[in-house]
Amino acid sequence: MAYTITLIPGDGIGPEVVEATLRVLDATGVELTWDRQDAVGTAAVERFGTPLPEPVLASIRRHRVALKGPVTTPVGKGFKSVNVQLRQKLDLYANVRPCLTLPGLRTPFQNVDLVIFRENTEGLYSGLEHFDERLQIADSTARISRRGSERIIRFCFQYARRHGYDLVTLAHKANILKLTSGLFLSVGREIAAEFPDITFNDRIIDNMCMQLVMHPEQYQCIVTTNLFGDILSDLAAGLVGGLGVVAGANIGDEVAVFEAVHGSAPDIAGQGIANPTALIRSAEMMLRHLGEAQAADAVRQALIDTFTEGTHLTRDLGGSASTMAFADRVAERVAALRAG
Ligand code: NAI
Ligand code: MG
Repeated sequence: MAYTITLIPGDGIGPEVVEATLRVLDATGVELTWDRQDAVGTAAVERFGTPLPEPVLASIRRHRVALKGPVTTPVGKGFKSVNVQLRQKLDLYANVRPCLTLPGLRTPFQNVDLVIFRENTEGLYSGLEHFDERLQIADSTARISRRGSERIIRFCFQYARRHGYDLVTLAHKANILKLTSGLFLSVGREIAAEFPDITFNDRIIDNMCMQLVMHPEQYQCIVTTNLFGDILSDLAAGLVGGLGVVAGANIGDEVAVFEAVHGSAPDIAGQGIANPTALIRSAEMMLRHLGEAQAADAVRQALIDTFTEGTHLTRDLGGSASTMAFADRVAERVAALRAG
């Protein structure tokens, strides 16, 4: 099969980890043609007056699959996050972030295997913000809908069933946020009744954070609202080797966009030292989504072999290899696996 896929290099370390990921994908032999969309974020504002020009959205809608590098969002001012806009405009309601201990990596735990399902289109990221100049009061509305809650929670249960997990935990703050988190929790209890083969429990978010850093092995699938999911997924990344290794997918009914959990990492951008594993693993998820399971398995095995070998690790993993030296090593191993 041949595929055409939208490619968004993004900014910061984005173009570096994207180039590295393409090197590895080339080695799989899967026929991928890229529809490259560079005009996103600050670069697009300068050229088109908007950070997310219509042709970018049209390209993703047409090809239905995209691979995306991180895009910087100005803090406290400036344009709205391209990442949030993209998820909302394409209705990519499920943000799926598997956090798995990969053999060969030195991490605080040896047996973490959890998947975070973050609601991706509403909650505190709904974009409903208001500032009253006169009173100097700012409001951000956390909108939670029954429909939005049902579809992410059902998605999580279905994923659990398909992937052999038997526990779903819902993270919330329904003791304080009685209406918003309360709705999410009560929908969770309803949907759980549709899946008698899967155990369901819930945790209040602050306790959940403590439990996760002490006993991550007690969790499998975690479903939660937008902001909590954003925070929990960086926390969970820390359990399995850091932001350099954790992949993600934004999935809707029509379209899927694959991107790492991490951002544009301005502190290390342009130095060729970023770890491309997170995006390579996102590409692995993309290959599975396309039905190319054999190629996906080869990418995962090549990563594990490269970690275990330990001679080509990037700086965040305690090595000194460059982004491309690591990627070249992984690509060599993919090619070797193909050759049998
Ligand atoms: P970040 O995830 O970019 O970086 C956090 C820390 O992790 C930094 O010290 C960075 O050097 C390190 N790190 C991240 N990825 C790494 C990698 N692949 N290899 C080695 N080290 C890595 O988070 P930060 O600094 O809070 O955000 C920077 C920018 O990225 C912001 O503008 C933010 O809005 C944006 N962002 C974009 C996302 C996206 O495009 N989906 C997601 C998260 C943040
Ligand atoms: Mg985040």
